[in-house]
Amino acid sequence: MFQSNVLVQSKVNKSATPVIVTLDIGNSCSGYAYTSIQDFCNDNWTIQMNEPWARDRHVTNKTCTTVLLEPGSGLEKAKYGYDAETVFADKYLDDEHHDCLLFRDIKYELYKDGVDFESTITDVYSGKKRQLCDILLAVIKYFKTQAIDRVQKRFPSTNDATIFWVLTVPSAWKLETTMLYRDLAIESGIPYRQLKLVTEPEACLAYMMQHININIPNIEKTEIANIVSVFDARVMLVDLSGDATTLSVHRVSGDKRFKMVYQSKSHGKGSTQVNEQFLLFLSNLIGEDIIRTLKHDYVDDYMAMYNEFEMEKRRIEPESPDRDTFSFKLPYQIEETFKDQYKDEYKTITQRIKDKSDYRDHVRYVDGRLHVEIKVLKALFDVVLNKIEVYIRNVLQMVPCARVACLMLVGGLAESKMVQDGMKNRFKEMLVLTPKHPELAVMKGAIMLSLLPEIEPPKPTCYHRVKDENIISSICSIQ
Ligand SMILES: Nc1ncnc2c1ncn2[C@@H]1O[C@H](COP(=O)(O)OP(=O)(O)OP(=O)(O)O)[C@@H](O)[C@H]1O
Ligand SMILES: [Mg+2]
Repeated sequence: MFQSNVLVQSKVNKSATPVIVTLDIGNSCSGYAYTSIQDFCNDNWTIQMNEPWARDRHVTNKTCTTVLLEPGSGLEKAKYGYDAETVFADKYLDDEHHDCLLFRDIKYELYKDGVDFESTITDVYSGKKRQLCDILLAVIKYFKTQAIDRVQKRFPSTNDATIFWVLTVPSAWKLETTMLYRDLAIESGIPYRQLKLVTEPEACLAYMMQHININIPNIEKTEIANIVSVFDARVMLVDLSGDATTLSVHRVSGDKRFKMVYQSKSHGKGSTQVNEQFLLFLSNLIGEDIIRTLKHDYVDDYMAMYNEFEMEKRRIEPESPDRDTFSFKLPYQIEETFKDQYKDEYKTITQRIKDKSDYRDHVRYVDGRLHVEIKVLKALFDVVLNKIEVYIRNVLQMVPCARVACLMLVGGLAESKMVQDGMKNRFKEMLVLTPKHPELAVMKGAIMLSLLPEIEPPKPTCYHRVKDENIISSICSIQ
């Protein structure tokens, strides 16, 4: 295994490596993006993505960061992403899952103190352990192979020697952890001199700046520039992901660079919490006993419901008609066991709904299907957004954050129109910006940051006549 205590940041060599690829291995979701340097020079916005990942009838920009190891087969035959989840679900239904190992939340392990080559990760169901580095290396190799296949279809003459790789890392990782990750990237076959690490907040900031420069009309741009580009202005990047909210505050400093002056991460404030709120709502509505039975005895219906909700929540917008419904199967047999158990005392699902005055007009149970009005689902976002608001307001009290006048929303949860609107309504005193495709900010921004050493923010009006006032994004903050 390659090991070195020095973090050398290679520069893109435009003639030797005309194609650049970034791997964004996230805790919940992962993907890759690529471009040829020639294409990027022609159009600084268009960067190609992986083919959309498919799950059931749905396609998404990123796939989940899950690894499945089946009994008797090594890591080279492991399953990844949605494939891993689907195969495991099938095995679970057939009660053949006991010897499988399923790994999720791989990246969170790397936030822990003292992570090294000996560290282990625990499988989700059986509690069995495996070397963390082996699993992470396998994940990097998987996405790298996928990326090379895709890139070669687009640029047939490309090979390992002609690709420059950019890997994104959280800025909160310790330097040793970042070096461990770099060593794994090199172990996966990426040549040392063709690899660069970029921190996630800086990649997102680069993406935001490009978005403002390229996609926003001039009148609005001037307004934004007057808030974000003046000396000592501060912007807060709000990365809303699967399970966490990560905040980073950047200050426009004297040398016209953005400098990160504060960062903070809080778990339990992400997209998964909207799903948790949905399950909580169902438990309150029809009883925890029924939901528990659904989860344990009707696993396929439970999983179908959970996966459908995951996609439904992405479609909900403030404008979605309140009376439209989201419906899913809640098999009527589920009640039989309780009828036997509770005898005359048993309340049917329909009776339970009628007892809830807040919901009885908005939820129906018909022919083994539960129909929930969208109005009810919209409220679930509020619970999560309220938590995020409190968290952000607490952080804004910190000294380095006092002058923050702009929030920039990125990450998967920021794709939601409910979230974009909810944040604007909650922070009316601030400029709240969301770029196009906030979910892709990390991976596309990483390429932009690597190819454009100077990411120019829009110039404030008062700077218009001053030459060389470009504000240069600081390159990777890892020293
Ligand atoms: N339109 C949408 N509405 C709500 N949630 C969404 C939407 N699109 C994606 N998500 C959620 O975004 C989450 C993934 O976000 P993201 O890709 O930013 O996380 P990540 O990069 O894996 O996390 P981290 O950066 O913390 O490692 C998923 O849990 C998914 O449910
Ligand atoms: Mg991420």
